Amino acid sequence: MFEENPNQRIWINEVAPRDGFQIESLIIPTALKVDLINRLSKTGVSKIEVTSFVSPKAIPALADANEVMAAINRPTGVGMVALVPNARGAERALACNVDEMNLVMSVSETHNLANLRMTHQQSFEQLNQVSSAAKGSKTQLNLSLSCAFGCPMEGTQSADDVMHWVEMALGIGITSITLCDTTGMAWPTQVHSLCKRFIQTFPEVPLTAHFHNTRSMGLTNVLAAISAGVRVFDASLGGLGGCPYAPGASGNVCTEDMVHMLELMGYNTGVDLRNLIQCAALLPDLVGHDVPGQVLKAGHALDLHPIPAYVKTAREHALGRSTSS
Ligand code: COA
Ligand code: ZN
Repeated sequence: MFEENPNQRIWINEVAPRDGFQIESLIIPTALKVDLINRLSKTGVSKIEVTSFVSPKAIPALADANEVMAAINRPTGVGMVALVPNARGAERALACNVDEMNLVMSVSETHNLANLRMTHQQSFEQLNQVSSAAKGSKTQLNLSLSCAFGCPMEGTQSADDVMHWVEMALGIGITSITLCDTTGMAWPTQVHSLCKRFIQTFPEVPLTAHFHNTRSMGLTNVLAAISAGVRVFDASLGGLGGCPYAPGASGNVCTEDMVHMLELMGYNTGVDLRNLIQCAALLPDLVGHDVPGQVLKAGHALDLHPIPAYVKTAREHALGRSTSS
């Protein structure tokens, strides 16, 4: 886990405009969302989850999904992703020509019912319809498996169940998977074991890990996933985020904190950290409160503080004393 990793590539998907904004009580004006997404698309992140095509009654904060998709810049090299829970969402997302539909279903049926009001069977039927609707389009299909490590209402989830749903998803034409720790219940050895099993079982299937920092295990879980071979991570600017239908949910792993750590360790995230921190600095005004990210407040670990005058004086005194004695 702790060997030097010069230039080993890690890819980052920025999810603040979706996972971050969905739980905010303030409705952020569309133009400000678009401005932030356009700025984020210049930071070097691989993908941006820009919104979700869900019921506006379920997530009022993202009711402007169509308007956001229509207004953002679409630079090449940055995939624009939208979360989609059902066939109706897919219809809307395809009409906006999203690069990727991030389908969603929870490993925990209790959370699936709370979040999507569907049983596993009903959800899977919707995913199947979405997959059929996407055939012939250029839109990629990813499945985010919520509560893949633990559910706040059911507890720890079985790795066998996770593998079962991955296999089912691949069977209907979904091509990549995200394992989500929706309420920050996962711990590093569990993460390592599940990610390793995934990679050994499905070596050809692109895997993304999605952690929340609810219990301060987020960055440690990122390292555990890397040591199991994961190279793609979701993260949220400022550490915003959370599912409004998962009790006790709180923010994702903070993108700038994660990039800061990984770059110090020698990984190449492709992200311009200074530029990313400038984006994060916009958040408190945008969401109307302080954000959990630490590097925004503390600064880069290698940025030094000026030496206070009294320390200089003390040093000169000490030097004077030592030369005169
Ligand atoms: N986009 C827009 N509107 C949608 C929609 C979609 N994808 N899916 C359903 N709706 C609308 C329906 O048209 C209907 O509208 P009406 O009341 O004006 O007739 C209403 O929502 C209810 O539709 P129904 O199919 O009965 O859905 P539901 O009430 O059982 O809710 C979901 C199911 C999946 C639509 C809803 O639970 C949802 O959007 N959940 C998303 C939650 C989320 O995003 N969580 C965080 C991310 S993991
Ligand atoms: Zn999440």
